[in-house]
Amino acid sequence: MTRISDPHALPGADPHTGNRRIDPVTGYDTTGHDWGGIQELNTPFPKIATIALLLTFLYSVVAWVLLPAWPTGRDYTRGLWGLDQGRMARDGFQAVDAVRQGWLSRFIDPDFAALASDDLLMAQAMPAAARLFADNCAACHGTSGSGGPGFPALDDADWLWGGEPEIVAETIALGINAADDSRVAEMPVFDWLEPADRQALAAYVAGLPQGNAPADSPAAILFAENCAACHGDGGTGGLLAGAPSLTDHSVLYGQDEAAILSTLRHGRRGIMPAWSQRLSPAEINLLAFYVSTLPEAKP
Ligand code: HEC
Ligand code: HEC
Repeated sequence: MTRISDPHALPGADPHTGNRRIDPVTGYDTTGHDWGGIQELNTPFPKIATIALLLTFLYSVVAWVLLPAWPTGRDYTRGLWGLDQGRMARDGFQAVDAVRQGWLSRFIDPDFAALASDDLLMAQAMPAAARLFADNCAACHGTSGSGGPGFPALDDADWLWGGEPEIVAETIALGINAADDSRVAEMPVFDWLEPADRQALAAYVAGLPQGNAPADSPAAILFAENCAACHGDGGTGGLLAGAPSLTDHSVLYGQDEAAILSTLRHGRRGIMPAWSQRLSPAEINLLAFYVSTLPEAKP
């Protein structure tokens, strides 16, 4: 490969163009560089790119004048238009919030039955309630409120404390076993019972949902003596102690014998956080109303 850098030395230079060598295909000058027969064209910088550069430069000058542009220490040049997207966002948010506070204020001291029959209000409130639920409650109770092990389902009609919106609002505000003024729900430890008695009780309780727990067995008597005070006669539930019904299919920790034996040996004390410090009273009432409608809404 020979690299010839001096076009003057080139043999066969065109007599009409002096020492310039014109590429016969494109008509452009060549730079005179020749790499083993491959020559480099001396193509001019594209005009369109020059124009684009010029336009962008002009735009930047206009933008500096009209829009916020240069930092000046603690401040910045605001531009003739005085645009402030931070303020625009705040204004937009305040406008949305004003509309929200408008309808939300009706939940401050609510007559739930009257609110439920206001279709226009419901159309705004229920989607907002669903979002509030997704943000604050779904992590434990599931997106649709269907619960999970240790976390009660809110979409069935089996309540620990009651499903009327007023009662649910109180549960949400106070929490359960969470703060000094919370609702208290404690399944005591029964490890002092004879293992045989615990086993008999576990078999009895496991049979309750199927309705095949013998009513006058020794285990039924044990249940009446030790458990009925909280769980109700025959285990039908005691809303005052937050003790679940043991006769339905809705379970908190499990109603097979192994889970019941574990419940009896170690006790249970589920914690539902208190929300009175985190949500406004109106939001709590809105959520309570939403939760109270979940069993009906369940497909
Ligand atoms: C950290 C997990 C957690 C979060 C978050 C949570 N909960 Fe709970 N919730 C529980 C547990 C656990 C219980 C059952 C407590 C018990 O075992 O007695 C419960 C119980 C309840 C009950 C009582 C159900 C009944 O049958 O009476 C309601 C109502 C409730 N939660 C609503 C809510 C709402 C509404 C939110 C959102 C603002 C929420 N929870 C957020 C864990 C949670
Ligand atoms: C002082 C009241 C109280 C007494 C007495 C009591 N329980 Fe409970 N029990 C509860 C409460 C409250 C819960 C719910 C605990 C929680 O929410 O974390 C519970 C939960 C349970 C569960 C779990 C239910 C589920 O859905 O997973 C079983 C099973 C159970 N109790 C059986 C018994 C048996 C059997 C006895 C009698 C030996 C008994 N309990 C006595 C209050 C009581």
